[in-house]
Amino acid sequence: MVSTKTSIGAFDFDNCLMNAAGVYCMTRKELEAIESSAAGSFVTKTGTLEARAGNPEPRYSNTDWGSINSMGLPNKGVDYYLDFVTELQEEGGHKNHFLSLVGMSPEETHTILKKVEASNYNGLVELNLSCPNVPGKPQIAYDFETTDAILSEVFSYYTKPLGIKLPPYFDIVHFDQAAAIFNKYPLAFVNSVNSIGNGLVIDDETVVIKPKNGFGGIGGDFIKPTALANVHAFYQRLNPSIKIIGTGGVKSGRDAFEHILCGASMVQIGTALHKEGPAIFERITKELQNIMAEKGYDSIEDFRGKLHYL
Ligand code: SIN
Repeated sequence: MVSTKTSIGAFDFDNCLMNAAGVYCMTRKELEAIESSAAGSFVTKTGTLEARAGNPEPRYSNTDWGSINSMGLPNKGVDYYLDFVTELQEEGGHKNHFLSLVGMSPEETHTILKKVEASNYNGLVELNLSCPNVPGKPQIAYDFETTDAILSEVFSYYTKPLGIKLPPYFDIVHFDQAAAIFNKYPLAFVNSVNSIGNGLVIDDETVVIKPKNGFGGIGGDFIKPTALANVHAFYQRLNPSIKIIGTGGVKSGRDAFEHILCGASMVQIGTALHKEGPAIFERITKELQNIMAEKGYDSIEDFRGKLHYL
């Protein structure tokens, strides 16, 4: 019997597929749709201390090959999402979840995490260090010194399971430097990758999204090779206790299979979920199971990280 079960730290999931933060996760209704789908979990929209309207619209556009977005972290405020995941946890009988969050400054991030630390929520937190779309705010995890300082402070008071959402890195030296920092901390996971920041899509002579004169995060087919490289680079470098979530360019069972082959324990779907809706989880799960059955793999641990080299 082929199983796509997985685990991150002490948390088990019946399926390794789930949504990526930003897609189908703004409201309880959207999160409930993922909860009742074939997905193994959901992650919430990244919650900030106060609710945010985000960037002016249009701020998301589908393309033939994927998507561009500059949402700017619109969200209902971290309390909305913290209340929901805590409620599900206390009801029992639900999937395990991920609460995504970040502050608009390091101080605000610590305020939020102290609130989560003091709360009844004992599930996973995904600290988003990689949003490319808030004007004037750089992608935090491209600044290694700031990232190190934030994590050092976080782990001085935060005792619950926490992982980080990363931007794509493009240089071997950066993989080495980033991994050396992450290995200093008891991270439950890293999630690679967020969108490739600040791309530009043009229709005839005009940009397709309004914020930042059209600059936005790129998702979809083009980011898969970069995502796979980031997943595998961190799989090769991180302490085995730090699990990897693979995100980027997943729209088929074959794409999910490749992420797992590179070392991913869970696989998140963004652009393709936005296009196809939550029924995508059933389709991709079946496609993944068929590939596993053909190859004689019973569980994802049979091939996770076992990429062949020439
Ligand atoms: C956004 O809200 O701008 C997208 C989320 C992200 O890239 O982290």
